[in-house]
Amino acid sequence: MNNAVLRSAGVNQTFLGEVVAGLGQTPKALSPKWLYDHEGSKLFEQITHLPEYYPTRTEIDLLAHIVPSLSEALADRRLLIEYGSGSSRKTRLLLGAMPNLEHYVPMDVSGEFLRGVADGLSKQFPNVQVRPLVGDFNVSLKIPAELREQSSLGFFPGSTIGNLTPAKASEFLRLRRDELGEGGELLVGVDLRKPVDVLLAAYDDSAGVTAAFNRNLLTRINRELGGDFDLQRFAHEARWNDDFGRIEMHLVSRGEQTVRIAEHCFEFADGESIHSENSHKYRIGEFKLLARASRWDVRQLWTDDKQWFGVFLLG
Ligand SMILES: C[S@@+](CC[C@H](N)C(=O)[O-])C[C@H]1O[C@@H](n2cnc3c(N)ncnc32)[C@H](O)[C@@H]1O
Repeated sequence: MNNAVLRSAGVNQTFLGEVVAGLGQTPKALSPKWLYDHEGSKLFEQITHLPEYYPTRTEIDLLAHIVPSLSEALADRRLLIEYGSGSSRKTRLLLGAMPNLEHYVPMDVSGEFLRGVADGLSKQFPNVQVRPLVGDFNVSLKIPAELREQSSLGFFPGSTIGNLTPAKASEFLRLRRDELGEGGELLVGVDLRKPVDVLLAAYDDSAGVTAAFNRNLLTRINRELGGDFDLQRFAHEARWNDDFGRIEMHLVSRGEQTVRIAEHCFEFADGESIHSENSHKYRIGEFKLLARASRWDVRQLWTDDKQWFGVFLLG
């Protein structure tokens, strides 16, 4: 398949450009945002229900516990913006406790999935205007003018902030400082340091769902960009990188091989990988420093008994 055919078939040129650049560099790496097409979002939702995946249930338990004590922060807010909203499962806890909320803006890169979730929420919360926004949270969002003056709360759960390097996480927090305006607050879920065996199991579960989620990136490249990845020849691997305090997901080549994407060819050595995601695990003090360096004060912090997960209210 040549590039002209791909172009006329409506290929996402940004995706193609980033894949060609990411697989052309050493080591090979792609942004984790590409993991989330519609199938990727559905697989991620399955991951959140797995016994090994402690972050979702820990954060939901924490939110259920803290929402009543957050009544002041929630009561007067008229605008709620959620970054990387996915299924918005956790948000339902907030929406039920925001009597004056007028607008909820779930934003996500996975457009079709987002629209389905937004339809469901509109029916469940008829008093709130649900305004889904498809986009990339690494840039400033185009919030409709009539919403910008509202008293706003940002919500960034799921430890999605851990998918960004600390430098990118700081940029994200600075962008939100301007976007949420004076008096705006941001509620962020952050996964914390814990024993490495717990982390590795969470990112390489026994049912193989995380492996399918990671490999779906290759299926997506094959379908959307005309690639010829043989999925059986790439293994999912979760690694702990102690230097950077993060879990890394890799797709590791089984043997030497050449992969074609449109008119581009990429050579893989045996054992060479595509680095597809980072999940940084913070110490409480590290995250507080990051927030302060990004123009936020830490107003409140809640953790579970084991201090595996933290919910930070920044203001
Ligand atoms: C780890 S999941 C968390 C989902 C949900 N917030 C939760 O707590 O379960 C990350 C979410 O962020 C979205 N996402 C990833 N990168 C993004 C980006 N650069 N811009 C917007 N959304 C992104 C994904 O589509 C996915 O829904």
